[in-house]
Amino acid sequence: MNSAVETLKQWVAESDNIVFFGGAGVSTESGIPDFRSTDGLYSQHYKYPPEQILSHSFFEAQPEEYFRFHRDKLVIEGAKPNAAHLKLAEWEREGKLRAVITQNIDGLHQAAGSRNVLELHGSILRAYCARCGKKHPADAVNHGEGVPRCSCGGVIRPDIVMYEEPLDMDTMQAAINYIRNADILIIGGTSLVVYPAAGLIDYYGGSKLVLVNLAQTAQDSRADLVIHEKIGQVFSQL
Ligand code: OAD
Repeated sequence: MNSAVETLKQWVAESDNIVFFGGAGVSTESGIPDFRSTDGLYSQHYKYPPEQILSHSFFEAQPEEYFRFHRDKLVIEGAKPNAAHLKLAEWEREGKLRAVITQNIDGLHQAAGSRNVLELHGSILRAYCARCGKKHPADAVNHGEGVPRCSCGGVIRPDIVMYEEPLDMDTMQAAINYIRNADILIIGGTSLVVYPAAGLIDYYGGSKLVLVNLAQTAQDSRADLVIHEKIGQVFSQL
């Protein structure tokens, strides 16, 4: 175990107020590609770049193409929680971790047993009618062909935050409160480039800011501990 991981292990052992804030890199070891790595979603070639397909205006204008991409790229059958998800759930059960704040939409933290999960960008495991708001099972969105429709005629959409759409303010405020009051803030598997989520780091005022990310981020110099390794591998040592 390297010394940074040892330090983190020590901090975790002594704390009952850990908050975790993560992104797509938390799920890559579960087989779900991230967005910005060289083999990530934004590096793959489509007729349109993924950030355009994942926008509200594109969804409205070309729902067929949106759902083709959604089912092909966002829904990964059989993905299971990895060591990072499982460790976070364990810490919560032990009373050490207060909240998981995630930009991911894959539901893997809950699948691992985490209960207090703040999903900043929603979840592909929920769906609702874009016209009347009625909730629907996500199955119609995630599987099948074509554009799923509600009985009112509206399009059934995933309960995710698309580009051009606002984040849920209650969720954002709760995330800010957890981070403000955290003893240790561990940020993992996120490039910290997509706002407003990336700005959450600014609310942490403590002295145990930990970044666990394969690639460097623009925030590395602010952290008290930086670990450039795979998060599942790191967490399995904690
Ligand atoms: P990114 O793809 O931008 O960043 C993922 C980061 O995780 C990269 O810096 C990788 O180096 C790192 N990484 C990959 N695998 C890792 C591993 N096993 N262990 C540790 N680090 C690893 O993903 P996000 O920051 O989550 O938004 O992207 C933010 C938002 O951009 C997403 O929520 C999504 C996307 O557009 C929406 O869809 C609204």
